[in-house]
Amino acid sequence: MKTYKQILDENRQWAEEIFAKIDNKMSAVALRSRDKLPSTADENGIHNDMKDTDPQWWTNGFFGSMNLLLYEHTGNEEYLKTAKSSEKLLDLAMPKLDKLNHDVGFMWHILSGGLYKLTGDMNSRTRNLFMACHLSARYVYGGDYISAWPSSPKYSIIDCMMNLPILYWASEEIGDDRFKRIAIAHADMTERQHIRDDGSVIHIVEHDRDTGETIKTHGGQGYEDGSSWSRGQSWALYGFIISYIHTKDERYLNAAKRVANYFIAACTDDWLPRIDFRAPAEPVYYDSTAAGCAACGLIELAKALPENEGGMYMNGAVNILRAMTEKFSNFDPSNDTMILYGSGRYPVNCTPERASVHKYLVYADFYYTEAILKLLGSEFFVW
Ligand code: GLY
Repeated sequence: MKTYKQILDENRQWAEEIFAKIDNKMSAVALRSRDKLPSTADENGIHNDMKDTDPQWWTNGFFGSMNLLLYEHTGNEEYLKTAKSSEKLLDLAMPKLDKLNHDVGFMWHILSGGLYKLTGDMNSRTRNLFMACHLSARYVYGGDYISAWPSSPKYSIIDCMMNLPILYWASEEIGDDRFKRIAIAHADMTERQHIRDDGSVIHIVEHDRDTGETIKTHGGQGYEDGSSWSRGQSWALYGFIISYIHTKDERYLNAAKRVANYFIAACTDDWLPRIDFRAPAEPVYYDSTAAGCAACGLIELAKALPENEGGMYMNGAVNILRAMTEKFSNFDPSNDTMILYGSGRYPVNCTPERASVHKYLVYADFYYTEAILKLLGSEFFVW
């Protein structure tokens, strides 16, 4: 196996060519969608806009944050203007504070946290600290986990691993470890109760809120209880390596490896993750969001390991990104959608319409762009 650095060197030129296409497309989209909070798109590939209907929707930070990543790499101020516009539009979610769930990390940390890192804007810092407080208040004392939703305190979900960075950041930022302690307690619970021995992942755990014990597990957006929703796998893979980066706790590195080993084994046939690795083989439903997020996690995992050991993870990331490019990408700058074949959920006994498969989802664009920038050696870490 080649070292991860050899694999990076061999793929640099390809990544540069792909990045030029991303930049060509996104420099047009940044202008067209500047006043929108897009989550998906219409049949002509034109972004929708969540700002008037659902400003509190969990994906509303991704478009602005992708523009921020592009600004950081290219220096093109138009991207920065779009990121700042997104942040302002996201303020429309503030009056809906009681409707906000644990996804404030996805929403604010990668946008306001990123803007603060790049520009030093103190208003962005305040927004992010406020949302770190909001997330901390979702912590269930006794049970020692962060509850996902306002509707019930009983549930934790694997997605929350991607919300923990706002807590690590808040502790680092103000020099007070109380946020980080909550993140660590939640990551520990996740390692014990969401990750199976084989590295596959449980989407939803229902807890006894006094002891934290698992009462029941649920398949959630995956096929069924006991199955393996691929985006959940990718939330765990990238989420644990991010927790390792912030804490240097080897248990999180090992958790990321277990999940990564399983993820790679589950998609080596064509490197295109199905929406659930344990759904029936037919019909074939892909999820490009799982692919992009997993690629980011695999690259960070490779970089956290000795060069020789990291090779297999970098190889997995590059294979996934090349397969995504081949099958899912659309670089035509006259429409807004870049990475197609995103999937929302696929529960058993669900019609394809209700299941929400093969749609454009804005965060597929985000993770794909983030992963390509990582291949180019970008050190800007927004998580
Ligand atoms: N966080 C919700 C989802 O992954 O669809």
